[in-house]
Amino acid sequence: MDWGLKNRIARIISPADNKALMLAVDHGYFLGPTEKLEDLKKTIAPLAKHCDSLMITRGALRTSVNPDYPVPVVLRVSGGTSIIGEDLSQEDITVSIKDALRLNVAAVAMSVFVGSKYEYQTIVNLGKLVNEAEEYGIPVLAVTAVGKEIGTKDARYLSLACRVAAEQGAHIVKTYYCENFEKVVKSCPVPIIIAGGKKIPEKDALKLTYDALKAGAVGVDMGRNIWQSDNPVAMIKAVHSIVHGTNNVEQAFTLYKQLSGKPNQKSNNNKPNQKSNNNKPNQKSNNNKPNQKSNNNKPNQKSNNNKPNQKSNNNKPNQKSNNNKPNQKSNNNKPNQKSNNNKPNQKSNNNKPNQKSNNNKPNQKSNNNKPNNKPKKRN
Ligand code: 5RP
Repeated sequence: MDWGLKNRIARIISPADNKALMLAVDHGYFLGPTEKLEDLKKTIAPLAKHCDSLMITRGALRTSVNPDYPVPVVLRVSGGTSIIGEDLSQEDITVSIKDALRLNVAAVAMSVFVGSKYEYQTIVNLGKLVNEAEEYGIPVLAVTAVGKEIGTKDARYLSLACRVAAEQGAHIVKTYYCENFEKVVKSCPVPIIIAGGKKIPEKDALKLTYDALKAGAVGVDMGRNIWQSDNPVAMIKAVHSIVHGTNNVEQAFTLYKQLSGKPNQKSNNNKPNQKSNNNKPNQKSNNNKPNQKSNNNKPNQKSNNNKPNQKSNNNKPNQKSNNNKPNQKSNNNKPNQKSNNNKPNQKSNNNKPNQKSNNNKPNQKSNNNKPNNKPKKRN
């Protein structure tokens, strides 16, 4: 791996602990001004100093993030559909590598829609993007996009989707957490981060974070569960305390409550935005004009103040394993060197996933080998 590529990955996945807290604010590329992201600048400014990197589109970046601000950028370069269109899976690459370079990005990101009508197009585009991005030492983050039926995306499907993305050369894969997530991580030879998905109660989102890291994810690329929280800064700090600290779910939730000024809050009481459909553009509002109010994009100081319990090793997920972690001292910055990571399912089925039941074709029984074929809405 070339120096530039390694260096950029190190801006996303911290070499200090091989963990990553990416803040996702790219939702507008297909959702428009979704709830709590109407005013990009207002949402991003207080949160950016608490994340390792920012996943964002070029339009949002140019209009709503101060260029003096040293937050590493993971630039979404795919698009072409919207939530009110026909088929969300029909994405293409919409941003040139030249423009990504102009924006000094740490990585480029695109979605692949494995099992969808436009599977071929998005997977081929991923391969092409890797070809081009590697020329300039830019890592590629592949997002295994799923439809509204996220609940049906199990470890078998997500393992397949992540593996397909990694085989095309993606350097990091973003996917969704599921039961048996260890399987997804083990069969993916590059680092995995998880999206948060739709807004859920804060404690549940913290548990999702904790469980994903415990299962081997290197971190999160979380959006709605942070900025749709009643207390976004408290929430990102609580997530941070799990990803980069040693907090377990209870400790992180306690921290969230303390920072929110509600130490006695119960976990079920904090469900903001429940009435609304989070994936629907805010039709009433006309507030989607970034840069209107605040100019608080202060540089990213990366303070350690939000890392409680740093000394302790208690309750720290992923302590044993260094799977899928680039930039490790012990493995010369090569992600996933551990010998068994590249051999998924070896013990049971000679590296052939899903062999027993359906000739290696996931989800065959139910839907003709095309898992979750028609994503209409993204989660
Ligand atoms: C949108 C994305 C988002 O970045 C991703 O879904 C993460 O955000 P959230 O935590 O809100 O799910 O890729 O397509």
